[in-house]
Amino acid sequence: MKAGYYQFAPSLFDKRGNLEKVSEKLGTADADLIVLPEFFNTGYTFSSAEEAAVQAERIPGGETTELMAAIARKKNMFICGGLPEDDGGVLYNSSVLVGPGGYIGKYRKVHLFYNEKKYFKRGDLGYPVFDMGGTKASMLICFDWFFPEAMRSCALSGAQVILHPTNLVMPYYQSASVTRALENRVFIILSNRYGKEENKGIVYNFTGASRIVTPTGDIIVSSPADKDDLRTAFIDPSLALNKKLNEMNDIFKEI
Ligand code: ACM
Repeated sequence: MKAGYYQFAPSLFDKRGNLEKVSEKLGTADADLIVLPEFFNTGYTFSSAEEAAVQAERIPGGETTELMAAIARKKNMFICGGLPEDDGGVLYNSSVLVGPGGYIGKYRKVHLFYNEKKYFKRGDLGYPVFDMGGTKASMLICFDWFFPEAMRSCALSGAQVILHPTNLVMPYYQSASVTRALENRVFIILSNRYGKEENKGIVYNFTGASRIVTPTGDIIVSSPADKDDLRTAFIDPSLALNKKLNEMNDIFKEI
């Protein structure tokens, strides 16, 4: 499977511009799977629940999910990306997986970071595993990485590939993802954004440096901290089925 990510700097509240940019870039991509950052369609820095509500969409059925599904169908690829979700007036920080056959599923971020707690409800869907053309995949969103049990839950449920949209403001996960991949023996596709965003005195600096990490902890592609970058690499998801470090240590049989 040729898997990848598109790192860029979404413009705050410019949904049309962000969706156009992603459509154009993915239109030229040669890949079976592309992961987009957290809140890739709207930007991140909400200053109120009202602002978030204006941007949030139904999943499935909203404009962003529909567009992602149309690209996925046309390009015969899987696409995962993060967006604010509106479920009958309740907002979630969610991610979506679509494929050549349309909408596949969604995940709602469990570990909300900082101000997100003011605007979004904690995810209530657990850590679902989805079938991605014969490969098992789960989604996590950004700060979920800080809680090892989140990725462990996905891996114990059979996920081979972790699709991980992020808007990282701390610099740790780019290296910590090696440990997460190793301890679960899964692939991680870490799709981060970069750039500075400011809204009503709230300022974030995002750390870029997206990457793909293998079950043996190898970083097979990585990006700079401050540039648009679409990267792909061939991965063999069947490698994530082997939880043996050696003849004596099967890491999922020791717990
Ligand atoms: C984060 O969870 N977006 C830092």
